[in-house]
Amino acid sequence: MTGGAGFIGANFVLDWLASSDEPIVNLDLLTYAGNLETLSSLRDDARHVFVQGDICDRALVDRLLAEHRPRAIVHFAAESHVDRSIHGPGDFVRTNIDGTFTLLEAARGYRATLDAAGQADFRFLHISTDEVYGSLSPSDPAFTETKAYEPNSPYSASKAASDHLVRAWHHTYGLPVLTTNCSNNYGPWQFPEKLIPLMIVNALAGKPLPIYGDGQNVRDWLYVSDHCSAIREVLARGTPGETYNIGGWNEKTNIEIVHALCALLDEMHPRTEGSYSQLITYVTDRPGHDRRYAIDARKIERELGWRPAETFDTGIRKTVQWYLDHPQWIADVHSGAYRAWVATNYSTRGQGA
Ligand code: NAD
Ligand code: DAU
Repeated sequence: MTGGAGFIGANFVLDWLASSDEPIVNLDLLTYAGNLETLSSLRDDARHVFVQGDICDRALVDRLLAEHRPRAIVHFAAESHVDRSIHGPGDFVRTNIDGTFTLLEAARGYRATLDAAGQADFRFLHISTDEVYGSLSPSDPAFTETKAYEPNSPYSASKAASDHLVRAWHHTYGLPVLTTNCSNNYGPWQFPEKLIPLMIVNALAGKPLPIYGDGQNVRDWLYVSDHCSAIREVLARGTPGETYNIGGWNEKTNIEIVHALCALLDEMHPRTEGSYSQLITYVTDRPGHDRRYAIDARKIERELGWRPAETFDTGIRKTVQWYLDHPQWIADVHSGAYRAWVATNYSTRGQGA
């Protein structure tokens, strides 16, 4: 797998090895978003082989494939934060497009060295996002797998490009690919640049809770271990060449999310100054901010029988509890690089309406 030191990838490794002894080779560059602390419980576990390296490094990827001879590549590695893609799109083009291209070419070469059964069984599972479909109005139907691609940010455009490469490597070269397009994830070990962990971490520090624009943008939230179980199903039983949308039917506005977090924190970790909701601050909107995402998950439910295990209420409570229980992890991710990012993103934003 690639990107297994990031938020979803690390949750995937931990969930996988909790229920299987099949080993994982984990290739991750350890950018600001990669954190080996998350995998510290696997330090002496021979089933997890960690390799620090770049998915754009063809020689390294070729060597790892020849050495470990995997039955599948599960590709999580990406630059993943929309705001960062607005400030610096170059890394997104490099990792998300060039990196995926490098992996596809390496996979194609490696698969050709397998016997007929190995070639038939091999899978390249590409983890993508619902953002490739663009933005919905309130009355639009949720995204199905046949929705036209209309990416609006440098991040979603780079992911869309990578999805197209994956599709083409199937049609042109017969590579047995699978693509998943998932909605917004939340849960343990998410880097506090994304909405939910940022709000929890800021609230606990007594800092403002910055809502972009009017707070009415809608996202469709899925607990991370439900995303991981969907990926395992697609890897095991998905049809090569197919794409699968993954979501939990949990559409919420951003302001609803932040009020829900404040209410949970008021209950689980009350502060003497009054409700955490007093920290809510409206700030200038994200440029090109997509208004609404919503996933129609009927295909994966129908064809693979997948269902999320968590509701939003159970998942968000577990998430808040996890951040309350891991103050040291929060302190550790507040590295110099993280502080520099907070300064770049928020110091130039004026007050919103
Ligand atoms: P993340 O930013 O937390 O982690 C990304 C990981 O990729 C990090 O460990 C980083 O070190 C690694 N990485 C970055 N560039 C690399 C490179 N050139 N070579 C090797 N490793 C590199 O991301 P995430 O939130 O865990 O997302 C994982 C995947 O899931 C991404 O492809 C993302 O597009 C997709 N996705 C994310 C969400 C979400 O809500 N977070 C939803 C749908 C899909
Ligand atoms: O939809 C899937 C995508 O979800 C993934 O592909 C991306 O990797 C992931 O980052 C996420 O993208 P979003 O842009 O939706 O997530 P983010 O957490 O950055 O923002 C969620 C919403 O909250 C969005 O409407 C912007 C808003 N927001 C975000 C931040 C960081 C705020 O209002 N204030 C903030 O400070």
